[in-house]
Amino acid sequence: MLERDFVNSQDFILSLKMEWTQSLYPQIREKFLALDKVKRDKMNVDDVDELIGDETDYKFFAFCERHLQKLKYSGAYGLHSFHKERRNSLVDNFTGDDPEKTEDFQLPEYYQEVDVHQQPGGVWSDPVGGFIYERGARTTTPLLGSNHKDLHYRFAETLFEPNDRKKWVGTIVDLGCGFGKSTRPIAEFAPNSKIIAIDLAEPCLKLGMAEAQKNQTINIKFKQADARSTGCEDKTIDLATSTMLLHEMPKSAIIEMLKETFRILKPGGKAVHLDFWLMRDSFDRFIFEGHSWRNNEPFMRPLFEMDIPKLLSDIGFVDIEIVPFQEAEQIDPAECPFWRFPWTRISMYKPN
Ligand SMILES: C[S@@+](CC[C@H](N)C(=O)[O-])C[C@H]1O[C@@H](n2cnc3c(N)ncnc32)[C@H](O)[C@@H]1O
Repeated sequence: MLERDFVNSQDFILSLKMEWTQSLYPQIREKFLALDKVKRDKMNVDDVDELIGDETDYKFFAFCERHLQKLKYSGAYGLHSFHKERRNSLVDNFTGDDPEKTEDFQLPEYYQEVDVHQQPGGVWSDPVGGFIYERGARTTTPLLGSNHKDLHYRFAETLFEPNDRKKWVGTIVDLGCGFGKSTRPIAEFAPNSKIIAIDLAEPCLKLGMAEAQKNQTINIKFKQADARSTGCEDKTIDLATSTMLLHEMPKSAIIEMLKETFRILKPGGKAVHLDFWLMRDSFDRFIFEGHSWRNNEPFMRPLFEMDIPKLLSDIGFVDIEIVPFQEAEQIDPAECPFWRFPWTRISMYKPN
C-alpha cells in the first residue's frame, strides 16, 4: 500500500467523522433540546431511547459511529494493514531493551477477550500494536484536529500548582500509560521527578521507550505490569495518575486498581484520573451508553453506573473532587454543540 493512498483514505474517513461530530450529532440532539427543560431534566436513558431510538437520523449516526471506526482500523487502507506491511522497519525503531516486568506478570483475561475500540488484536498482541494505536489516537477526539496534544498537556498541567511546575520533586506512577502520551507531558512538567509508567501492552511500552529515548527523557521507567498489582512498595508514591484507563477496566478491576493506588501512595499523596464519567444530561448518557456497544468499549457502560465518590471514600480517600474537564481552550463542556467525550477529572488524596 502506498503511504499516499493510506493518508488520503484516513483523511477522508476523518472528514466523514468531522461531519458526524459537527452535523449529525447536533441534528439528533435537536429533538431532545426542543423539549421543555423541566421535562428534559426528568428524563432517563430509556426515555431518550423512546424519543429518538427509532429515528432514521439516529440509526445513521449509530451506523457511522461503528463503521467509520471499523474502516479506520480494518478497511483496505486501514491502520492495521498499513502498519503490518511495514512491521519490520517499524520495530527497528525500538531501543532493543525490553521493559521491566513484574514478577508473575500475566495479561488479564478481560483484556484479551475484546478488541477494544475495534483495534484488531487490541494494542497488545502485535509488535506494531503501539504504532497502530498511536496513529489512531491522533483522530480519536476529532474536534482537536491533529492537535491531540492539547488534552494530555492540559491534564498534566493540572497536576502541579503553577509555582511548582518544573520544580516539583517526587515519585509518580502513570497507570495504563499506553505509549506515554500522558507520561511525556508529566515528565516535562516535573523533570526532577522519577516516573514509573505502567501498562499491560508490551508493544505500547516499547514505543514509549523509543519516543522517550528520542526526546532524551531519562526520568521515565516503563514497566509491564497490571495497574492492580504494580510491584511498587507500600507508601512510596507521591502522585498516581491515569488517562483513559478506567473505562477500559471491568468494575472489579477498577476497585482493585484504586485499592492498589491507596496502598502505594504515601500519606498525603494524590491520585488523579482522567476518564469519562460526568455527563450533562440523559441525552449524552444515551449516546455514550450506545458508544460503549458500538465501539467495542464494554466496560464504559458499567463505569457510568458506578458510585465513584462513595467507592473512593469507602477505600479511604479524602478531598475527592470530580469535575468536567475542558480538553481544549475553545471547548466548553457544558455548552459544546458538537459530539465530544464526557471528559472528567477525578482527584483524591490519601489522608496524612
Ligand atoms: C485508552 S488507552 C490510554 C493510554 C494512555 N493513558 C493515553 O492517554 O494515551 C488505555 C490503556 O490502558 C491499558 N490497560 C488496560 N487495563 C490495564 C491494566 N489492568 N493495567 C495496566 N494497563 C492497563 C491498555 O493497555 C491501554 O494502553
